[in-house]
Amino acid sequence: MLKLRKFFALAAVLAVAFAGAAFALEADEVLVGACIYKFDDTFMTGVRNNMKAEMDKIGGELEITDSQNRQPLQNDQVDAYIAKGANVVIVNPVDRTAALPLMEKAKAAGIPIVFINREPEAEVMQAYDKIWYDGAKAEESGTQSGELIVDYFKKNAGADKNKDGKIQYIMLRGEQGHQDAVLRTEYSVKAMKDGGFELEELGSDTANWDKVQATDKMKGFISAVGIERIEAVLANNDDMALGAIEALKSEGYNMGDPAKYIPVVGVDATAPALEAMSKGEMLGTVLNDAANQGKAAVQVAVAAAMGKEVNKETTGYEVTDGKYIWVPYRKVTSENYKEFM
Ligand code: GAL
Ligand code: CA
Repeated sequence: MLKLRKFFALAAVLAVAFAGAAFALEADEVLVGACIYKFDDTFMTGVRNNMKAEMDKIGGELEITDSQNRQPLQNDQVDAYIAKGANVVIVNPVDRTAALPLMEKAKAAGIPIVFINREPEAEVMQAYDKIWYDGAKAEESGTQSGELIVDYFKKNAGADKNKDGKIQYIMLRGEQGHQDAVLRTEYSVKAMKDGGFELEELGSDTANWDKVQATDKMKGFISAVGIERIEAVLANNDDMALGAIEALKSEGYNMGDPAKYIPVVGVDATAPALEAMSKGEMLGTVLNDAANQGKAAVQVAVAAAMGKEVNKETTGYEVTDGKYIWVPYRKVTSENYKEFM
């Protein structure tokens, strides 16, 4: 009798083990469903292309959809991925403060969720054991872009055009509420102060990461304060820096005449920004590493979908607090920009 009971117990254990084995996925069997907040974004297009390239190497399936900057649409897209049996979802949220329901959908379906580029609030990150965030520390990029301006002012005596010992600057901010907009603004200002400069902000506005909006805003600032008063332009990303440069160029600035030059810095190190640096139109930028952020997103998603522990061994990336992959930023100057082209 005892033997028989042991037999059944063993059979039950084996049945569970077999069921488990049947569900355990190989890397090339994983289906990843990904949503990007909008395809029409220069930096996120870089991340997206690197996600595809990484999945091509792994051999699994990756579907990517355009959330067209609409959160309700993105919510439906996540539902659709779950309904078709995706093993994991990667989400670049439209609104990072609306990550909770997305996490809850994944949790209810029992699949992992990897957020990228727009950081969910800590409470959301703590409320599920299969949630990760892959991005970069916004503070770091803010500090580095402020330091580019500090270095320029220290090297160029004429940079302080009105000789008042202060940096008169314009700030072009990214989307309202985005951690990269808030922290890059704050930390670039802090870096200039820490560099020993007094500051005077001549203008600050959001241009939503967008080049055309930045050109408009910059033209407005130029007519409001006068171009000769502006000593620096800091933009939260390269598209906005390039937009500001368009406005400067329409006034004959940043086109080669050293008497008509205003240092402009951005963040991302996109191809057009590096190009502008090579032509002397833009002072510098900060590498927002699309290659590693894209690669990490897919590595984490696949490891999690396979039921592996997500760590350096299984993904190639350091995982902080079991949940965060922080890809470092790098300062891009006239000395090293060619490395990034
Ligand atoms: C930032 C990037 C911006 C924009 C934004 C989208 O990290 O610097 O250019 O792509 O993400 O969320
Ligand atoms: Ca000054």
